[in-house]
Amino acid sequence: MIYLDFNATTPIDSEVQKTICTSLNEAWGNPSSSYDTGKHAKSVIEDARRKVAEMIGSAPHEVIFTSGGTESNQMVISTACKNFHLEVESGLDLKIPHIITSQIEHDSIRIPLEKLVEERKAEVTFVSVCKSTGIINVDDIMKEIKPNTCLITLMLANNETGVIQPVQQLRPKLKVHKSASLCTILLHTDAAQALGKIEVDVDTLDIDYLTIVGHKFYGPRIGALYTKHMKPLYPLFWGGGQERNFRPGTENTPMIAGLGKAADLVTLNLEKYNQHMSAMCSYLVKVLKKCFKPKSVIVHFFKENRLPNTLSVAFDYECTGAAILAKAKNIGASTGSACHSGIGRPSEVLINSGIPADLAAKTIRLSVGRETTKEDINKAVKILHNAVKRVTFPLKL
Ligand SMILES: Cc1ncc(COP(=O)(O)O)c(C=O)c1O
Repeated sequence: MIYLDFNATTPIDSEVQKTICTSLNEAWGNPSSSYDTGKHAKSVIEDARRKVAEMIGSAPHEVIFTSGGTESNQMVISTACKNFHLEVESGLDLKIPHIITSQIEHDSIRIPLEKLVEERKAEVTFVSVCKSTGIINVDDIMKEIKPNTCLITLMLANNETGVIQPVQQLRPKLKVHKSASLCTILLHTDAAQALGKIEVDVDTLDIDYLTIVGHKFYGPRIGALYTKHMKPLYPLFWGGGQERNFRPGTENTPMIAGLGKAADLVTLNLEKYNQHMSAMCSYLVKVLKKCFKPKSVIVHFFKENRLPNTLSVAFDYECTGAAILAKAKNIGASTGSACHSGIGRPSEVLINSGIPADLAAKTIRLSVGRETTKEDINKAVKILHNAVKRVTFPLKL
Protein backbone atom coordinates (compact mmCIF):
# COMPACT_ATOMS: atom_id res chain seq x y z
CA MET A 1 0.00 0.00 0.00
CA ILE A 2 1.15 3.53 -0.72
CA TYR A 3 0.54 5.43 2.48
CA LEU A 4 -0.35 9.10 1.97
CA ASP A 5 -2.17 9.78 5.21
CA PHE A 6 0.62 10.98 7.49
CA ASN A 7 -1.70 13.60 9.03
CA ALA A 8 -3.90 10.81 10.37
CA THR A 9 -0.95 9.12 12.02
CA THR A 10 2.69 8.29 11.36
CA PRO A 11 4.53 5.01 11.83
CA ILE A 12 6.91 4.83 14.78
CA ASP A 13 10.45 5.83 13.80
CA SER A 14 12.84 2.87 14.21
CA GLU A 15 15.02 4.79 16.68
CA VAL A 16 11.94 5.69 18.69
CA GLN A 17 10.93 2.04 18.68
CA LYS A 18 14.40 1.07 19.98
CA THR A 19 14.17 3.65 22.76
CA ILE A 20 10.74 2.33 23.77
CA CYS A 21 12.02 -1.27 23.84
CA THR A 22 15.10 -0.33 25.88
CA SER A 23 12.88 1.50 28.30
CA LEU A 24 10.51 -1.48 28.55
CA ASN A 25 13.46 -3.66 29.51
CA GLU A 26 15.48 -1.29 31.63
CA ALA A 27 13.20 1.43 32.97
CA TRP A 28 10.33 -0.75 34.20
CA GLY A 29 10.53 0.43 37.80
CA ASN A 30 7.90 2.70 39.31
CA PRO A 31 9.29 6.22 38.81
CA SER A 32 8.03 7.17 42.28
CA SER A 33 10.07 4.44 44.00
CA SER A 34 13.11 5.62 45.92
CA TYR A 35 15.47 2.74 45.04
CA ASP A 36 17.59 2.40 41.90
CA THR A 37 15.05 0.89 39.43
CA GLY A 38 12.61 3.66 40.32
CA LYS A 39 15.28 6.34 40.13
CA HIS A 40 16.33 5.10 36.71
CA ALA A 41 12.74 5.26 35.39
CA LYS A 42 12.42 8.77 36.82
CA SER A 43 15.62 9.87 35.08
CA VAL A 44 14.36 8.46 31.76
CA ILE A 45 11.19 10.53 32.14
CA GLU A 46 13.09 13.70 33.00
CA ASP A 47 15.40 13.17 30.03
CA ALA A 48 12.34 12.86 27.76
CA ARG A 49 10.84 15.99 29.28
CA ARG A 50 14.03 17.93 28.46
CA LYS A 51 13.88 16.71 24.86
CA VAL A 52 10.22 17.62 24.39
CA ALA A 53 10.92 21.03 25.94
CA GLU A 54 13.87 21.55 23.59
CA MET A 55 11.68 20.79 20.55
CA ILE A 56 9.31 23.65 21.42
CA GLY A 57 11.82 26.02 23.07
CA SER A 58 10.35 25.78 26.57
CA ALA A 59 11.72 24.96 30.02
CA PRO A 60 11.35 21.28 31.01
CA HIS A 61 9.06 22.05 33.97
CA GLU A 62 6.59 23.62 31.52
CA VAL A 63 5.92 20.20 29.91
CA ILE A 64 3.38 17.76 31.38
CA PHE A 65 2.90 14.32 29.83
CA THR A 66 -0.66 13.32 28.94
CA SER A 67 -2.38 10.47 27.09
CA GLY A 68 -2.57 12.51 23.86
CA GLY A 69 -3.90 15.58 22.09
CA THR A 70 -7.50 15.02 23.10
CA GLU A 71 -6.58 15.05 26.79
CA SER A 72 -4.23 18.03 26.45
CA ASN A 73 -6.92 20.06 24.69
CA GLN A 74 -9.53 19.06 27.27
CA MET A 75 -7.19 20.04 30.10
CA VAL A 76 -6.77 23.54 28.69
CA ILE A 77 -10.51 24.09 28.26
CA SER A 78 -11.25 22.82 31.74
CA THR A 79 -8.42 24.90 33.24
CA ALA A 80 -9.72 28.08 31.60
CA CYS A 81 -13.24 27.44 32.93
CA LYS A 82 -11.95 26.70 36.43
CA ASN A 83 -9.76 29.80 36.38
CA PHE A 84 -12.77 31.87 35.32
CA HIS A 85 -14.84 30.54 38.25
CA LEU A 86 -12.02 31.22 40.73
CA GLU A 87 -11.79 34.80 39.46
CA VAL A 88 -15.57 35.18 39.69
CA GLU A 89 -15.51 33.89 43.27
CA SER A 90 -13.03 36.60 44.11
CA GLY A 91 -15.54 39.30 43.24
CA LEU A 92 -16.53 39.43 39.52
CA ASP A 93 -20.19 39.69 38.60
CA LEU A 94 -20.13 37.17 35.74
CA LYS A 95 -22.08 33.92 35.31
CA ILE A 96 -20.48 31.55 32.80
CA PRO A 97 -17.17 31.67 30.93
CA HIS A 98 -16.86 32.67 27.29
CA ILE A 99 -14.39 30.96 24.96
CA ILE A 100 -13.34 32.00 21.46
CA THR A 101 -12.14 29.54 18.86
CA SER A 102 -12.21 29.01 15.08
CA GLN A 103 -14.68 27.14 12.89
CA ILE A 104 -11.97 24.79 11.67
CA GLU A 105 -10.68 23.22 14.89
CA HIS A 106 -10.20 19.50 15.38
CA ASP A 107 -13.04 17.60 17.06
CA SER A 108 -11.02 17.41 20.27
CA ILE A 109 -11.54 21.16 20.65
CA ARG A 110 -14.86 21.65 18.86
CA ILE A 111 -16.84 18.89 20.53
CA PRO A 112 -15.87 19.60 24.18
CA LEU A 113 -16.77 23.24 23.55
CA GLU A 114 -20.12 22.31 21.98
CA LYS A 115 -20.81 20.09 25.02
CA LEU A 116 -20.14 23.01 27.36
CA VAL A 117 -22.62 25.11 25.39
CA GLU A 118 -25.20 22.28 25.43
CA GLU A 119 -24.85 21.99 29.19
CA ARG A 120 -25.02 25.79 29.55
CA LYS A 121 -21.65 25.76 31.25
CA ALA A 122 -19.98 28.15 28.79
CA GLU A 123 -20.62 30.45 25.87
CA VAL A 124 -18.49 29.78 22.80
CA THR A 125 -17.87 31.88 19.71
CA PHE A 126 -16.71 29.96 16.65
CA VAL A 127 -15.03 32.54 14.44
CA SER A 128 -15.05 31.92 10.69
CA VAL A 129 -11.88 31.90 8.60
CA CYS A 130 -11.40 33.84 5.36
CA LYS A 131 -13.19 31.93 2.61
CA SER A 132 -10.49 32.53 0.04
CA THR A 133 -7.36 31.91 2.12
CA GLY A 134 -8.53 29.53 4.86
CA ILE A 135 -6.77 31.82 7.35
CA ILE A 136 -8.43 33.44 10.32
CA ASN A 137 -8.29 37.20 10.72
CA VAL A 138 -7.05 37.79 14.28
CA ASP A 139 -9.00 41.07 14.42
CA ASP A 140 -12.19 39.01 13.98
CA ILE A 141 -11.24 37.09 17.11
CA MET A 142 -10.52 40.25 19.07
CA LYS A 143 -13.91 41.74 18.11
CA GLU A 144 -15.58 38.84 19.91
CA ILE A 145 -13.97 39.46 23.30
CA LYS A 146 -16.61 39.99 26.00
CA PRO A 147 -16.41 40.69 29.76
CA ASN A 148 -16.49 36.92 30.47
CA THR A 149 -13.94 35.82 27.81
CA CYS A 150 -11.38 33.56 29.49
CA LEU A 151 -9.78 31.55 26.66
CA ILE A 152 -8.82 31.91 23.01
CA THR A 153 -7.89 28.61 21.39
CA LEU A 154 -6.65 28.56 17.79
CA MET A 155 -4.96 25.62 16.05
CA LEU A 156 -1.50 26.24 14.61
CA ALA A 157 -2.07 24.29 11.40
CA ASN A 158 -5.21 22.70 10.07
CA ASN A 159 -5.19 18.92 9.77
CA GLU A 160 -7.18 18.88 6.52
CA THR A 161 -6.05 21.89 4.52
CA GLY A 162 -2.62 22.26 6.13
CA VAL A 163 -3.18 26.03 6.30
CA ILE A 164 -1.07 27.66 9.02
CA GLN A 165 -2.93 30.08 11.28
CA PRO A 166 -1.47 33.39 12.57
CA VAL A 167 -1.23 32.28 16.21
CA GLN A 168 1.77 34.55 16.86
CA GLN A 169 -0.48 37.59 16.24
CA LEU A 170 -2.78 36.73 19.15
CA ARG A 171 -0.67 38.15 22.00
CA PRO A 172 0.15 41.56 20.48
CA LYS A 173 -3.48 42.08 19.45
CA LEU A 174 -4.70 40.85 22.82
CA LYS A 175 -2.55 43.45 24.57
CA VAL A 176 -4.66 46.09 22.78
CA HIS A 177 -8.05 44.42 23.25
CA LYS A 178 -7.83 42.62 26.59
CA SER A 179 -9.64 45.37 28.50
CA ALA A 180 -12.85 44.20 26.81
CA SER A 181 -12.78 41.28 29.26
CA LEU A 182 -13.01 41.50 33.05
CA CYS A 183 -11.11 38.25 33.51
CA THR A 184 -7.79 36.74 32.51
CA ILE A 185 -7.75 35.62 28.87
CA LEU A 186 -5.57 32.54 28.37
CA LEU A 187 -4.11 31.69 24.95
CA HIS A 188 -3.85 28.14 23.62
CA THR A 189 -2.74 26.57 20.38
CA ASP A 190 -3.23 22.99 19.26
CA ALA A 191 0.09 22.30 17.51
CA ALA A 192 -0.67 18.62 16.81
CA GLN A 193 -0.19 18.92 13.05
CA ALA A 194 2.58 21.50 13.03
CA LEU A 195 5.19 19.69 15.13
CA GLY A 196 7.76 17.80 13.10
CA LYS A 197 6.78 19.71 9.95
CA ILE A 198 7.44 23.38 10.70
CA GLU A 199 9.38 25.26 13.38
CA VAL A 200 7.33 25.55 16.57
CA ASP A 201 8.69 27.83 19.28
CA VAL A 202 6.61 28.80 22.30
CA ASP A 203 8.38 32.13 22.77
CA THR A 204 7.72 33.18 19.18
CA LEU A 205 4.11 32.07 19.42
CA ASP A 206 3.79 33.69 22.87
CA ILE A 207 0.92 31.46 23.96
CA ASP A 208 0.13 30.09 27.43
CA TYR A 209 -0.58 26.49 26.38
CA LEU A 210 0.44 24.28 23.46
CA THR A 211 -0.80 20.79 22.62
CA ILE A 212 1.70 18.11 21.56
CA VAL A 213 0.67 14.77 19.96
CA GLY A 214 3.36 12.08 19.63
CA HIS A 215 1.86 9.96 16.87
CA LYS A 216 1.86 12.86 14.41
CA PHE A 217 5.66 13.06 14.45
CA TYR A 218 6.71 9.39 14.37
CA GLY A 219 6.36 9.00 18.13
CA PRO A 220 4.09 6.89 20.31
CA ARG A 221 0.40 7.49 20.93
CA ILE A 222 0.75 9.75 23.95
CA GLY A 223 1.03 13.52 24.18
CA ALA A 224 2.06 16.44 26.29
CA LEU A 225 0.89 19.88 27.24
CA TYR A 226 3.11 22.93 27.44
CA THR A 227 1.96 25.37 30.11
CA LYS A 228 3.83 28.63 30.42
CA HIS A 229 5.57 29.18 33.76
CA MET A 230 3.18 30.69 36.35
CA LYS A 231 0.06 30.16 34.22
CA PRO A 232 -2.76 28.21 35.85
CA LEU A 233 -3.18 24.49 35.22
CA TYR A 234 -5.77 22.31 36.94
CA PRO A 235 -5.81 18.52 36.71
CA LEU A 236 -8.71 16.69 35.09
CA PHE A 237 -8.54 14.00 37.79
CA TRP A 238 -6.81 13.20 41.06
CA GLY A 239 -4.53 10.40 42.19
CA GLY A 240 -1.01 9.65 43.25
CA GLY A 241 0.49 13.06 42.59
CA GLN A 242 2.58 12.20 39.52
CA GLU A 243 3.50 15.00 37.08
CA ARG A 244 3.47 17.35 40.10
CA ASN A 245 -0.21 16.49 40.59
CA PHE A 246 -1.17 18.04 37.25
CA ARG A 247 -1.62 14.61 35.65
CA PRO A 248 -1.70 11.87 38.26
CA GLY A 249 -1.33 8.17 37.50
CA THR A 250 1.81 6.01 37.31
CA GLU A 251 3.79 7.27 34.34
CA ASN A 252 3.92 5.31 31.08
CA THR A 253 7.73 5.41 31.11
CA PRO A 254 8.43 3.56 27.80
CA MET A 255 6.04 5.74 25.80
CA ILE A 256 7.31 8.89 27.47
CA ALA A 257 10.87 7.83 26.58
CA GLY A 258 9.68 7.28 22.99
CA LEU A 259 8.06 10.72 22.88
CA GLY A 260 11.35 12.22 24.05
CA LYS A 261 13.26 10.40 21.31
CA ALA A 262 10.73 11.47 18.66
CA ALA A 263 11.07 15.07 19.85
CA ASP A 264 14.85 14.81 19.74
CA LEU A 265 14.71 13.65 16.12
CA VAL A 266 12.55 16.66 15.27
CA THR A 267 14.99 19.04 16.98
CA LEU A 268 17.91 17.53 15.07
CA ASN A 269 16.34 17.04 11.63
CA LEU A 270 13.41 19.43 11.20
CA GLU A 271 14.90 21.25 8.25
CA LYS A 272 15.63 18.01 6.42
CA TYR A 273 12.10 16.67 7.09
CA ASN A 274 10.53 19.95 6.01
CA GLN A 275 12.48 20.15 2.77
CA HIS A 276 11.83 16.54 1.84
CA MET A 277 8.08 16.76 2.47
CA SER A 278 7.88 20.04 0.61
CA ALA A 279 9.72 18.61 -2.40
CA MET A 280 7.46 15.53 -2.42
CA CYS A 281 4.31 17.67 -2.25
CA SER A 282 5.48 19.81 -5.20
CA TYR A 283 6.29 16.67 -7.14
CA LEU A 284 2.87 15.22 -6.32
CA VAL A 285 1.11 18.31 -7.68
CA LYS A 286 3.25 18.18 -10.83
CA VAL A 287 2.46 14.51 -11.49
CA LEU A 288 -1.24 14.97 -10.74
CA LYS A 289 -1.48 17.86 -13.19
CA LYS A 290 0.36 15.83 -15.80
CA CYS A 291 -1.74 12.69 -15.42
CA PHE A 292 -5.18 14.31 -15.06
CA LYS A 293 -6.62 17.27 -16.92
CA PRO A 294 -4.69 20.06 -15.16
CA LYS A 295 -7.82 22.13 -14.54
CA SER A 296 -9.55 19.17 -12.91
CA VAL A 297 -6.96 18.94 -10.15
CA ILE A 298 -7.71 21.72 -7.68
CA VAL A 299 -5.36 22.06 -4.73
CA HIS A 300 -7.13 24.07 -2.07
CA PHE A 301 -5.18 27.03 -0.65
CA PHE A 302 -2.13 26.07 -2.68
CA LYS A 303 -0.68 29.57 -2.51
CA GLU A 304 -1.15 30.00 1.25
CA ASN A 305 1.32 29.38 4.02
CA ARG A 306 0.69 25.64 4.43
CA LEU A 307 2.25 22.62 6.07
CA PRO A 308 4.95 21.22 3.76
CA ASN A 309 3.35 17.75 3.68
CA THR A 310 -0.35 18.41 3.17
CA LEU A 311 -2.39 18.66 -0.02
CA SER A 312 -6.14 19.00 0.00
CA VAL A 313 -7.02 18.08 -3.57
CA ALA A 314 -10.39 18.17 -5.33
CA PHE A 315 -10.69 15.96 -8.40
CA ASP A 316 -13.25 17.84 -10.44
CA TYR A 317 -14.93 14.88 -12.13
CA GLU A 318 -18.41 13.40 -11.77
CA CYS A 319 -17.55 11.46 -8.63
CA THR A 320 -16.85 11.99 -4.95
CA GLY A 321 -13.52 11.73 -3.19
CA ALA A 322 -14.91 8.84 -1.13
CA ALA A 323 -15.87 6.95 -4.31
CA ILE A 324 -12.37 7.43 -5.73
CA LEU A 325 -10.73 6.17 -2.56
CA ALA A 326 -13.09 3.20 -2.43
CA LYS A 327 -11.69 2.12 -5.81
CA ALA A 328 -8.10 3.14 -5.06
CA LYS A 329 -7.63 0.16 -2.78
CA ASN A 330 -3.85 0.36 -2.63
CA ILE A 331 -3.71 3.92 -1.38
CA GLY A 332 -3.92 4.93 2.26
CA ALA A 333 -5.51 8.39 2.14
CA SER A 334 -8.67 10.02 3.44
CA THR A 335 -11.34 12.49 2.48
CA GLY A 336 -10.71 14.54 5.62
CA SER A 337 -9.87 14.01 9.25
CA ALA A 338 -9.47 10.30 10.14
CA CYS A 339 -12.10 10.51 12.88
CA HIS A 340 -14.69 11.54 10.25
CA SER A 341 -13.99 8.84 7.70
CA GLY A 342 -17.14 6.99 6.76
CA ILE A 343 -19.66 9.68 7.72
CA GLY A 344 -20.56 10.19 4.05
CA ARG A 345 -20.85 13.99 4.20
CA PRO A 346 -18.36 16.52 2.84
CA SER A 347 -15.97 17.81 5.47
CA GLU A 348 -17.30 20.66 7.62
CA VAL A 349 -13.76 21.99 7.95
CA LEU A 350 -13.51 22.36 4.16
CA ILE A 351 -16.94 23.95 3.92
CA ASN A 352 -16.12 26.29 6.81
CA SER A 353 -12.89 27.15 5.00
CA GLY A 354 -14.94 28.34 2.01
CA ILE A 355 -14.80 25.31 -0.28
CA PRO A 356 -18.21 24.88 -2.01
CA ALA A 357 -19.98 21.69 -0.82
CA ASP A 358 -19.85 19.98 -4.24
CA LEU A 359 -16.08 20.55 -4.48
CA ALA A 360 -15.57 19.57 -0.83
CA ALA A 361 -17.27 16.25 -1.64
CA LYS A 362 -14.72 15.69 -4.42
CA THR A 363 -11.77 16.35 -2.15
CA ILE A 364 -9.10 13.96 -0.93
CA ARG A 365 -6.42 14.78 1.64
CA LEU A 366 -3.00 13.57 0.58
CA SER A 367 -0.30 13.96 3.21
CA VAL A 368 3.26 12.81 2.62
CA GLY A 369 5.85 11.67 5.16
CA ARG A 370 9.57 11.65 5.83
CA GLU A 371 10.18 8.64 3.64
CA THR A 372 7.70 9.16 0.82
CA THR A 373 9.51 8.74 -2.52
CA LYS A 374 8.89 9.94 -6.07
CA GLU A 375 8.25 6.32 -6.94
CA ASP A 376 5.48 6.11 -4.32
CA ILE A 377 3.97 9.24 -5.80
CA ASN A 378 4.14 7.96 -9.38
CA LYS A 379 2.40 4.76 -8.31
CA ALA A 380 -0.18 6.57 -6.21
CA VAL A 381 -1.14 8.95 -9.02
CA LYS A 382 -1.51 6.03 -11.41
CA ILE A 383 -3.80 4.25 -8.94
CA LEU A 384 -5.85 7.43 -8.44
CA HIS A 385 -6.12 7.94 -12.19
CA ASN A 386 -7.38 4.38 -12.71
CA ALA A 387 -9.80 4.80 -9.84
CA VAL A 388 -11.27 8.01 -11.28
CA LYS A 389 -11.52 6.32 -14.68
CA ARG A 390 -13.42 3.40 -13.18
CA VAL A 391 -15.79 5.58 -11.16
CA THR A 392 -16.56 8.04 -13.94
CA PHE A 393 -16.80 5.46 -16.76
CA PRO A 394 -17.77 6.09 -19.60
CA LEU A 395 -16.66 9.72 -19.29
CA LYS A 396 -13.28 10.52 -20.80
CA LEU A 397 -10.58 11.77 -18.48
C1 LIG B 1 -5.17 19.06 15.03
C2 LIG B 1 -5.35 17.88 15.92
N1 LIG B 1 -5.56 18.09 17.23
C3 LIG B 1 -5.73 17.08 18.08
C4 LIG B 1 -5.73 15.77 17.66
C5 LIG B 1 -6.05 14.70 18.64
O1 LIG B 1 -5.06 13.80 18.87
P1 LIG B 1 -5.41 12.38 19.52
O2 LIG B 1 -6.54 11.78 18.73
O3 LIG B 1 -4.17 11.61 19.40
O4 LIG B 1 -5.82 12.62 20.94
C6 LIG B 1 -5.50 15.51 16.30
C7 LIG B 1 -5.49 14.12 15.78
O5 LIG B 1 -5.89 13.83 14.69
C8 LIG B 1 -5.31 16.59 15.41
O6 LIG B 1 -5.11 16.42 14.08
